[in-house]
Amino acid sequence: MSAAAAEIRPPEEARSPFDINRVRADFPILSSQVHGKQLVYLDNAATTQKPQAVIDAISRYYTHENANIHRGVHQLSQTATDSYEAARQTIQHFLNAADQREIIFVRGATEGINLVAQTYGRVHVGAGDEIVVSAMEHHSNIVPWQILCEEKGAHLRVAPISDQGELLLEQFEALLNEKTKLVAVTHVSNALGTVNPIAQIVEAAHRKAIPVLVDGAQAVPHLPVDVRELGCDFYAFSGHKIYGPTGIGILYGKRELLESMPPYQGGGDMIRSVTFEKTLYNQLPYKFEAGTPHIAGVIGLGAALDYLSGVGMEAALAHEQDLLDYGTRALEAVPGLRLVGTAKEKAGVLSFVMENIHPHDIGTILDQQGIAIRTGHHCAQPVMQRFGIPATARASLAIYNTRSDIDALVAGIHKLKEVFA
Ligand SMILES: Cc1ncc(COP(=O)(O)O)c(C=O)c1O
Repeated sequence: MSAAAAEIRPPEEARSPFDINRVRADFPILSSQVHGKQLVYLDNAATTQKPQAVIDAISRYYTHENANIHRGVHQLSQTATDSYEAARQTIQHFLNAADQREIIFVRGATEGINLVAQTYGRVHVGAGDEIVVSAMEHHSNIVPWQILCEEKGAHLRVAPISDQGELLLEQFEALLNEKTKLVAVTHVSNALGTVNPIAQIVEAAHRKAIPVLVDGAQAVPHLPVDVRELGCDFYAFSGHKIYGPTGIGILYGKRELLESMPPYQGGGDMIRSVTFEKTLYNQLPYKFEAGTPHIAGVIGLGAALDYLSGVGMEAALAHEQDLLDYGTRALEAVPGLRLVGTAKEKAGVLSFVMENIHPHDIGTILDQQGIAIRTGHHCAQPVMQRFGIPATARASLAIYNTRSDIDALVAGIHKLKEVFA
């Protein structure tokens, strides 16, 4: 542990009502060794580890319930359908959506955003129209809009951010006009950790009758999200970033908007009837769920959210916020290290650069010590361009991380400084 980290370690951790040891024991992978060292997993913004409850739910489904859903009268099919639809309800409550028909199962945040671009966008965006994003978006909330703009002759407008990585709200509002057909903005930046003021953004956009899509991929694991309180029109996230499986995600959309949108993909389950002359589409949410879905993934995601409510989301998030503060102070105290993304409101992410050491070297040398972080542009190249850097090293947090993980990171950084001295 570095002297700086030792100095700022307050004694509260042991007294916290949040039982970190129990939580850690729920995640089997955390007891692994990497390169002969105890794993310190700080790459949670890329993907989180899975609790035993999720692994068991998936295993139980394949062991005891496996059947296709919605189509069978036999018992297994009905059991699988019940589990699948129960997960939809869990997610509805998790987001506080008004109606379970507003919860669409997709592959992840990326597919959720593409769905809106290719359905809502196809109908509502035309030549000369504009879509507004922010300068801190992940590529998955940029490229689908660029594809749409290219197809339609529309334009992408970018709201700038400050040197701290905060959205410049006045300049954002100044971009909204009668040509703006959609605002698409991230709730939490994966590269900077900034939490955007979504309710304010929505209010500004709605004053001009512009709908808002929120990329919630990095928000749902770190903040309580209430889509009705936020007022947003669409909200997308990925299961694997919130302790669930890969390949499953959620698109929330307000019912009246989803009703008005054409289907995304054609195939089984999304139809009410098919003839060669005319096909009638199914009702929500099935209209947007063509083909056999990722049933095990849906069940696993439901189990992940149940697990989180069992742990106590509020206490878990308070623990994580404490770690973020602790990690911020510990990293700020390292000479030659600069945090990238110093917004007042932040969640989960500690991105940094170091004098004379390339982020890839930071990642590689920390890996030798069993510490997993991410280095690179984090699929947010425009953010790197904004800060004039090629890449950052990024440590990102989850509910199972500890102050000792941060201490190990800081000690690892001191070690790599010796290597490069
Ligand atoms: C802010 C943000 N949006 C979208 C995505 C895309 O998520 P997925 O690859 O799970 O679809 C990510 C993934 O890192 C992200 O961090």
